[in-house]
Amino acid sequence: MGAGKTTLGAALAELLGRPFLDVDAEIETSTETSIADIFRNSGEPRFREVEEETIGRALSSPEPAVLALGGGALGSETTRALLRARAFTVLVEVDAAVAWERASASDRPLARDEAQFHALYADRLPVYEAAADARARDLDGAVLAAAGVHVGLGALAELGSLVPGDGPVALVADPRVGGIHGAAAQLALGDRLVSTHELPAGEEAKTVAALERLWSELRLDRKATLVALGGGCTTDAAGFAAATYLRGVAWVPVPTSLVGQVDAGIGGKTAIDLPGGKNLVGAFHWPARVVIDPALLETLPHVERAEGRAEVVKTGLLAGEPLWALPEPELVRRCAAVKAAYCIRDPLDRGPRAALNLGHTFAHALEAAGGYAEVTHGRAVGLGLHAALRLSLEHAGLDPSVLRTLEEALPLEPAHVDRDRAWAALRRDKKVESGHVRLVLLEAPGRPVTGVELPDEAVRAALDGLIAG
Ligand SMILES: NC(=O)c1ccc[n+]([C@@H]2O[C@H](COP(=O)([O-])OP(=O)(O)OC[C@H]3O[C@@H](n4cnc5c(N)ncnc54)[C@H](O)[C@@H]3O)[C@@H](O)[C@H]2O)c1
Ligand SMILES: [Zn+2]
Repeated sequence: MGAGKTTLGAALAELLGRPFLDVDAEIETSTETSIADIFRNSGEPRFREVEEETIGRALSSPEPAVLALGGGALGSETTRALLRARAFTVLVEVDAAVAWERASASDRPLARDEAQFHALYADRLPVYEAAADARARDLDGAVLAAAGVHVGLGALAELGSLVPGDGPVALVADPRVGGIHGAAAQLALGDRLVSTHELPAGEEAKTVAALERLWSELRLDRKATLVALGGGCTTDAAGFAAATYLRGVAWVPVPTSLVGQVDAGIGGKTAIDLPGGKNLVGAFHWPARVVIDPALLETLPHVERAEGRAEVVKTGLLAGEPLWALPEPELVRRCAAVKAAYCIRDPLDRGPRAALNLGHTFAHALEAAGGYAEVTHGRAVGLGLHAALRLSLEHAGLDPSVLRTLEEALPLEPAHVDRDRAWAALRRDKKVESGHVRLVLLEAPGRPVTGVELPDEAVRAALDGLIAG
């Protein structure tokens, strides 16, 4: 009561693209009676019956939704059992004093007397704690909890308890990250750690040869968990190993690069490369948990941090907030929540998740034109954002001030690649996508549009504008 479930639940439902059902409001609508009146006229036991039925109906629906439950709903064992079977339950944390202030200002029948209210709060808390799969204080917290993402300074030291279950754990890292943070991870995993493994640093990890070595080294049963400590290359490759070894074992990415913490470690896409292209073999394999410790970024070299910055700016544009201006721990948490929300909404990347490709059609073309050596992904994404926003001015009605904001956050430095090669690479993408380049544009900060098809001349001009000379 007074935790803000109705406000938070509605915002969460909107973010995840799911219907929202506030159980109290639903009861008032269906009975055409206020809750205060039901309590007065029929008594609390009758209200609890109606409540249990309403929740039961909502939880039997096959369509995923966000439900906000009334404060006393967990008194019913039927409801508690249904929640265990059918729901992911988030406890919205609130201080008793704040809850009283809010609840007493409403006409809630159980918020009349302050001492009684506090007694009820103390009574109910253990019940909530037992029923909760996770706890959250705000919207980002609820999204992250639902996605299984734990963000916290010092989280690496708690890795042993953050890896779900109590089965054996194999740890995978590249030599660099393993050398810096491997010992702390091993210490935190304690007795559960049964083996450690090395993947080569960088894209070399995402090769069939590296995977074959890892597969052959692993000696795990189906109850084991593979923990991947490192940047996006390590988590992509180790995640793919987890998706395929024994037809799939649980895995926990512990992303250590900025790219990893705001992007690659979240959302369950795993992959390796083929000589013919990046990420051509892979699987969707949702992690059992993602453990993000922003303190690990302290040892990240400057160039690697710059790689992540473009994705942070992209995320901020998608979210409609200048997330790139935040201090790092908060920046990571906010960006991770935005990515997580897109992935929950569209886990298999068949619709709205495409928005995360803002700037990427151009980025991939520049990377390919530079032979994947001249222009790094981060730099290419930065450039791609400029092209996408310029096109958005004319074709999506974007306000020019947004482009200026981008120019300040991420000054444009044109790439030195061959124009024709870049255009050819972009058109190759086009063939794959059944004949049309489908772009992500921005109508306004926070309002991406996906699947936009534009005339070739406009797309080519935007691409040319990113290339020097
Ligand atoms: N699965 C996804 O959804 C997804 C999303 C975005 C990118 N990716 C993939 O991620 C990869 C790029 O990830 P990346 O940029 O993290 O590269 P990376 O894994 O190669 O890491 C970059 C470098 O930084 C080092 N490093 C990482 N963390 C460190 C730390 N805390 N301290 C010191 N050194 C550290 C690594 O050893 C490596 O040399 C690409 O292959 C890309 O395709 C995947
Ligand atoms: Zn990217």
